[in-house]
Order: sequence, then C-alpha cells, then structure tokens
Amino acid sequence: MEDNSEKPKGISRRKFLGAAGAAGAAAATAGFAWPLLKNESTYSASSNESLGYNFRGKHQAGVTAPRMPAGLVAGLDVRVDDKRELEQLFVRLSESIELLMSGARYEDRSGGFPPADTGLNDRADGYVPPWVVLSVGDSLFDSRFGLASLKPRELQPMPKFNNDYMVKPATSHGDLSVAIGGVTHESVIHGFRQLMRSVRGSVIPKWTRSGFNSIRPDIKPGIAPGRNLMGFKDGTANPDPQSDSSMNEIVWVQPNDLQPEWALGGTYLAVRVIRMMVEFWDRTRLNEQEELIGRSRDSGAPLGMKKETDEPRFTSFESHIARANPRTSGSEENLMLRNGFNYADGLDGNDQMDQGLVFLSYQRSLEKGFITVQRRLDGEALEEYIRPLGGGFFFVLPGPGQGSDPLGASLLA
Ligand code: HEM
Repeated sequence: MEDNSEKPKGISRRKFLGAAGAAGAAAATAGFAWPLLKNESTYSASSNESLGYNFRGKHQAGVTAPRMPAGLVAGLDVRVDDKRELEQLFVRLSESIELLMSGARYEDRSGGFPPADTGLNDRADGYVPPWVVLSVGDSLFDSRFGLASLKPRELQPMPKFNNDYMVKPATSHGDLSVAIGGVTHESVIHGFRQLMRSVRGSVIPKWTRSGFNSIRPDIKPGIAPGRNLMGFKDGTANPDPQSDSSMNEIVWVQPNDLQPEWALGGTYLAVRVIRMMVEFWDRTRLNEQEELIGRSRDSGAPLGMKKETDEPRFTSFESHIARANPRTSGSEENLMLRNGFNYADGLDGNDQMDQGLVFLSYQRSLEKGFITVQRRLDGEALEEYIRPLGGGFFFVLPGPGQGSDPLGASLLA
C-alpha cells in the first residue's frame, strides 16, 4: 500500500483567517493564547508522565491513541449562517482543541471575570490533557454552506439496521461530532466544556454519551485492553494502531480511494450507542454467553483454544466474532479499528439498568468496513441482549498538518 505521506492540500491559518475576516479573527483568538506545542508524547497506560498530545500532524492523534480510561462522544449541530462563519467556527474549535491537547496553561484572569478554564485541569491534581477527534457529519454537506460537492463519497446518514427499532433521531447524527479520550472523567469533562464554551452560540450539543474503560497495564496487540460490560475482553482482535502500514491499509483514506482530495488522511467514524440488557445477560448460562461471542469469557481465547492470541478457526459462523470477521477470502477488506468505551447511566425508567457500549470504529471505507460488518451481524443471536440507541456516521477530518492550518482547512479552502 502506497504511503500517504503528502500533507493534505490546505491553506495557511493566516489566509484562512483572512478569508474569515479580521473581525472574526479577533473574536476567534479572544481569550486564548495560541499555545506552544512543546512535546510529542502520548499517554501510555503504564506512565502518567505525558504532557499532552500532538494536535499537529497528518492525522488526528486520538484515532490511533490507546484505549483510554474515560471517553465522551457527542453529536453537535452548527448554528452559523454561511461558509465564512463556518470557517471562523473551525478556527475557534481548532484553537480550543490545540490548547486543550497541548496541556498548556489557560490565561490567568482576575477574579472579576469568569475563569478561562473549568478548574478541573490542575496538574497538581494529576491532570493529564485529553485528546479530541473532530469529525463532520452528512448534514454539514447540505445546502447551507455550499459543500455538497465536497462530501466524502461514502458519508451518509446511518441506515436502520436489523435491531435498530430503538434508535432515535434525537440521539443520532449531527453536523459535527467530537470524541474525547482521557485518563480521568474530569479531564474529559473539562475538555468538552472548554470546547463548547469556545463556540458558544455557534454550536449546540445534540446528544452526548460518556463512559469508561478499565485498562490493563500492559497493552499490546492481540491482547484486549479491557472488558466490556458483558464481562468479555474487548479489543482482542483489533489491528495494531501503532502500525502505520496497518493503519494505512485499514483506517486512513488513501489517494486511490476516489475520495475528494481534501479527505486524504481522514477516516470514517461509525458511532453506535448500544445498550446491553444486562439483567437478562446475568441470567444467561456461561456456555451460552461464550457461544454467542465465540470466545471464552475469562481467558478471551477463541472457543476450543487456549490463549487469547490464538487465531480463531471457525466450524460454524454463528458467533459474534465469526460473523464480524469470518476470516474467509476477501474478509480482510472489512477490517476496522474499534476504540470505544463502556457506559452506565443509571436506570431506564422501567427499573432496568441503562448500561452498554459506546462503539466507535474507524475505517477507510464505511461500506467495506462498518456497513458490511454490521450487515453480517444483522440477525446474530447476540441481538436478543443488545439494543442500539443512537450514534451516527461521521468523517474524521484529516490532521491539520505541521503548519498553522486549523482543522477543516482543506475542506473549506
Ligand atoms: C454491545 C455490542 C457488542 C458487544 C458486546 C461486542 C463484543 C465483542 C467481543 C467480546 C469481541 C471479542 C473480542 C475482540 O476481538 O474485541 C468482539 C469482537 C468484534 N466485534 Fe463486537 N461487540 C459488539 C458490537 C459490535 C459492532 C456493532 C460491531 C461492528 C459492526 C462489532 C464488530 C466486532 C469486530 C470486527 C470484532 C473482531 C472480530 C475478530 O476479528 O475476531 N462489534 N465484539
């Protein structure tokens, strides 16, 4: 696979701001110092010493970041009138995300003003900055901003799949989405509040879900970083996010993909908020649970094998993993990078626990990745125990490059 080392074609931040108008530029930077990017480190589960994430680069860093202890995803709608205001909005969002991910300090203000940060980001408390992934939804390409011809070829509203009768418009889609991952809930909440305050009046949140992952100390490929709320290891058969060749093959849009040029280095994001009927699950025999998934609950090994890292050999294609990845000729085209989190949001109003999985998958082709895999899962026996509630399809913007472009510069150029 050819390496996509070309920086996406874009415009400089200065030109971008010029296009957006000087007044917009002043408003865009008001209250924020453009942070100095000072280090390259990323969070690792075995060390909390990192100072921040690299906002700049060919790709948005959060896509391939390790699974995090805390996560949030939101669908957002924009409330601006034209493309010029949309450009200003992307500048403001980018500044806010860059400042957040860098871990740089927010401006000190006197007590006569609202503080520039939430107060949940004190390094003395062990705060580690979160990462943010910004994506665009199908509706951003409607008639409002004249972007229809630039829509990524496979971006579309999420269709109704077999088990989707509880999916609601109010908890699905959005003009934009943000996914945030952090070491603590507070860091993620801080991130979301800082982003939202930076675009107040121009962006309204449509839906959000937040949650958590337990993370093993020794994350490595072939070993799940943690368990989902059905008690099974989750993430075992994920591709290695540190492998550039795998990510180019599976995740990042490549030059020969017939996508608009601005989309190179981006990826499709599928979000599915999937409730688990945990009371029912907890009354189900272990043998049946394991047959539904296709792996042993405790070891994570494929059924009939010993180790989590053993390659499954299927005699039947009924289990979740056999349907998701039958390992038949051609099915390697349907791989994806899964990087979601668990959620538990109290009760559902009928004395049942509202718990489940916020499924996030990244793939270079939505059709070959999520849609094909979900169609194969349609009708799986596991459906009795799960109810998708919402989510949506988005396109993760390419990284902002090494210069001074904001996110979205290549789209809006
Ligand atoms: C609540 C819903 C779900 C649960 C409880 C669940 C659970 C699991 C578990 C336990 C595994 C095995 C460990 C692993 O490799 O990570 C797995 C694998 C997998 N799941 Fe799911 N999953 C759910 C939803 C989905 C959805 C919506 C998709 C995509 C449409 C999906 C795609 C996959 C894939 C591709 C694998 C890897 C299969 C392999 O290569 O062996 N899952 N899932």
